[in-house]
Amino acid sequence: MHRPMITMLSILIILALSVNAQPSSSDLISQVCAHVPRKGFCESTLRSDPRSEGADTAGLAAVALALAASNATDNAAFIGRMLGGGGDGWAGGSLDPAVEQCLSDCADQYVDAVEQVEASIAAASARDYGGLRPWVKAAIADAESCEEGFRMEAGGHQMLMSRRNKVFKLLCDTALRIVELLVLA
Ligand SMILES: *[C@@H]1O[C@H](CO)[C@@H](O)[C@H](O)[C@H]1NC(C)=O
Repeated sequence: MHRPMITMLSILIILALSVNAQPSSSDLISQVCAHVPRKGFCESTLRSDPRSEGADTAGLAAVALALAASNATDNAAFIGRMLGGGGDGWAGGSLDPAVEQCLSDCADQYVDAVEQVEASIAAASARDYGGLRPWVKAAIADAESCEEGFRMEAGGHQMLMSRRNKVFKLLCDTALRIVELLVLA
């Protein structure tokens, strides 16, 4: 074999060994997120939470669900502030009636989403991963209804909730994908 080839091989072997030598939870995060379509989102989300440190796969699923729950709560509060007038840069106190209607529908949907994600957290702590899925899927459907309401009735203001709906759905989807790993295990 050529010398550069041997050097290359030994570097690869050393790299492979050193990766295996220290299975830390950040490696687990990479492994788990490799099964999630939005890998980058999954990794940065899980790494940003101190509860992920040292967590096993079930623990990472619980972190993703907890983040989805606090995001849904945050979205519900944001909608409440919008409906209350003022806050979050909304100019003036009077909302376009179509926008107000969409927001009040979204408020109901996020109240439901918070409850559903909380139910899924209860299922996760009982290791009832099959029972958990319908709750998370229902929560995703709520965010989709919120988005759809805006699209149908208040096209010009669609961006108001789009990013929040999207991030919430990604958090839910991340949790579902991690749970799939637990079900398959
Ligand atoms: C939820 O997601 C929205 C949209 O990205 C973000 O603005 C908000 O800070 C998040 N809240 C929580 C508590 O994760």
